[in-house]
Parts: sequence; structure tokens; C-alpha cells
Amino acid sequence: MTHTTAQPGRLTDAATAGLTVTLTGVQPTGELHLGNYVGAIRPLADLAADPARDIYVFVADLHALNSCPDPGALRERSRRLAAALLACGLDRPNVHVYRQSRVPAVARMAALLSNVAAKGLLNRAHAYKASIAANVAAGRDLDHGVNMGLYSYPLLMAADILALDADEVPVGADQAQHLEIAVDLAQQFSRSYRPGVLREPRALIAQRTATLPGLDGRKMSKSYDNTITLMAEGNVMSNQIRRIVTDSSSPEQPKDPDTSTLIALLRAFADPRTVAAVEERYRAGGIGYGEVKSLLAKVIDTHVAPMRSRYHRLLTDPAELDARLAKGEQHARQRADRTLARTMAAMGL
Ligand code: ADP
Ligand code: TRP
Repeated sequence: MTHTTAQPGRLTDAATAGLTVTLTGVQPTGELHLGNYVGAIRPLADLAADPARDIYVFVADLHALNSCPDPGALRERSRRLAAALLACGLDRPNVHVYRQSRVPAVARMAALLSNVAAKGLLNRAHAYKASIAANVAAGRDLDHGVNMGLYSYPLLMAADILALDADEVPVGADQAQHLEIAVDLAQQFSRSYRPGVLREPRALIAQRTATLPGLDGRKMSKSYDNTITLMAEGNVMSNQIRRIVTDSSSPEQPKDPDTSTLIALLRAFADPRTVAAVEERYRAGGIGYGEVKSLLAKVIDTHVAPMRSRYHRLLTDPAELDARLAKGEQHARQRADRTLARTMAAMGL
């Protein structure tokens, strides 16, 4: 199915005709770490370098409501995340950064889609099933601690995607099922009402190679408390890097670069010649972990420093951040309002 041809009942969008519309959301649940940058933000910035793409990237603040009930913290995290996205290569004319809650058509789309979504479909979603399994294991009521936000999380995510009429959605492998649910709902809508109203999105699932290890060698993740903070000041970051766990081999001993956390991090940030030179010294012996850690701290700091200063400028200049978000939100609203109008008309509203 090509997405550029007009279909019955579909409004062609002159502004994006011929462009691929790419959309993704990030939850404002904590400080971004290097894993988020390498696995999600940098690949998105690479996609954004292609002028044939129109990119919508949003702070999933409505989704965060079911895990972050503190209003002040949610507001602050949402602003920080928006500033970080803009600072990390996404401040471009073909990228629209917005807060999900500021695009009312998304929540209205979710309400409409709830009539198309079979309850059984949501019963099978991983996050809900995991909560049920934990409750069963603890001998509690099946739905203990489950709010409707958690239960209908995939429905809201489908609304994010379908309301913005996205062609492709880059996500980590953990989100693949949510994408399938969005596709399912678009197809169900076509069968129940008519085709050509909701666009079927395509998942761009991140490759395994992008997984960055954390301080203890496991996948870098908030849940493992092993992260290196993306926007930390240089000295904080080098202190974190110094804490990376290494084995007890002496500088003279040969080492295997393919099992080294330090090398995995270096590969993500250093130029290929630097990486090759360090790998060579690993194999031959004659390099100590302290030296590699200093090099790594320098390489990462050089990469991150310009983004960090842009991030802090945006956070200390609320008017500029607000203006960027207002522009992104206006763009997203226009697009989502059009889809919503089409959807309502198809449903007889
Ligand atoms: P966390 O595991 O810290 O909770 P999230 O699950 O919120 O991180 O991830 C947000 C995005 O960052 C996802 O697209 C995910 O694929 C990416 N990501 C997270 N950790 C890593 C990592 N260690 N390596 C590569 N990508 C990652
Ligand atoms: N659920 C995604 C995550 O936790 C965030 C998200 C919300 C999203 N809505 C989306 C991603 C729509 C892609 C498209 O990572």
C-alpha cells in the first residue's frame, strides 16, 4: 500500500504530500541516559537529516500519568525531555516537537477508538499481562493496582499514531506489540466503517546492535540503576564512567574487546580509527582500564558538550522553549484535527 495516493474519504495533505511522516513518542519518566540517546534519539536525528521525512516527536505526558502522579515532577520532566530532544539534533524545520497533552484530538481519538478495540485485544497486552502475573504470584486480586490508564495504554498509543496519520514509527523492540495493536485497530476501523480514513503505520524496530551496556555491563536502563546520565556535567559524567565495572586483568594482559563494556561505549561515540587503535592495544596487551576510561570520558564529553549547553540554554530561557513547543504543537494539532474530523464523519458524528 502506498501512502501518497489519495483514497476515498481521505484528505490529501498538500504540505506533506510525497514526504514520509515519521512519528515517535518518549515518556517523561526520568533523566535521559546514554542508552536512550544511542538507541532512540540519535537514530531519530539521523532520520531527520533526510529532508524527505516529516517528523513528529512528542513527550508522552498523558502516558506518564499512570506512573507519575506528582504534578510538579511531571511538568518538570516534560520540559526537560522536550529541551533534551530539541538539543539533540531535533531542532530542525522538518521536526515537530510537542507535548501529547497539548493536542486534544489525540485523547478524543482514543475515546473513539475505544469502541473499535476489542477488550480481549487489550487483555493480551504485555504490560497488563505482566501486572496480572505479578498479582497472581503474590496471591492478590488479579487487577490489584491496575488503573485504566495502564490497561488502555496501547489504545492511547494507537491514537497517538493514527491521529497524526503516521507512515512509520521508530521504536525499540519492546514496543513492537503496541505497534501491532495500532495496525489492528486501523484495520478494524476500515472493516467496521470504511477504508482510507485511518492510515496503517509501519514499525521501524531498532536493531539489536544499538543496545548499549550500563555501568555493570547489563543493558543500560533506569530499572537497573546502571545509567550514565546524558545531560550530566562533564565531571559528573567522568565520575560515572570511572564506576564502570571491569575485570581484574592488569594493563599488560591481552584483553577481548568484544566482551568489554568500555569498548562497547567507545564504539558508540568514538571515530572508527580511535576505536580500532584501542581494540588493537586490547588484543596485544599494554593498556589499562584507567586509560580507557579517561579516553572514553573525553570522547563522550566532546560529543555531548554542545548538546548539553543548548539544553541548559533552553531550560534557562523558558520563552524560547515555549515558543518551540508552541510551534510543534500547532503543527501537530492541525494534522490531528484533520484526521479526527475525517474519523468522526466516517463514524456518523
Ligand atoms: P529504560 O530501560 O531506561 O527504562 P526506556 O525503556 O524508557 O529506557 O527506553 C526509551 C528508549 O530508549 C527506547 O526506544 C529504548 O529502545 C531506548 N533504550 C533504552 N535503553 C537503551 C540501551 N541500553 N541501548 C539502546 N537503546 C536503549
Ligand atoms: N510507549 C512508548 C515507550 O514507552 C512511548 C510512546 C507513547 C510511543 N506513544 C507512542 C512511541 C507512539 C511511539 C508511538 O517507549
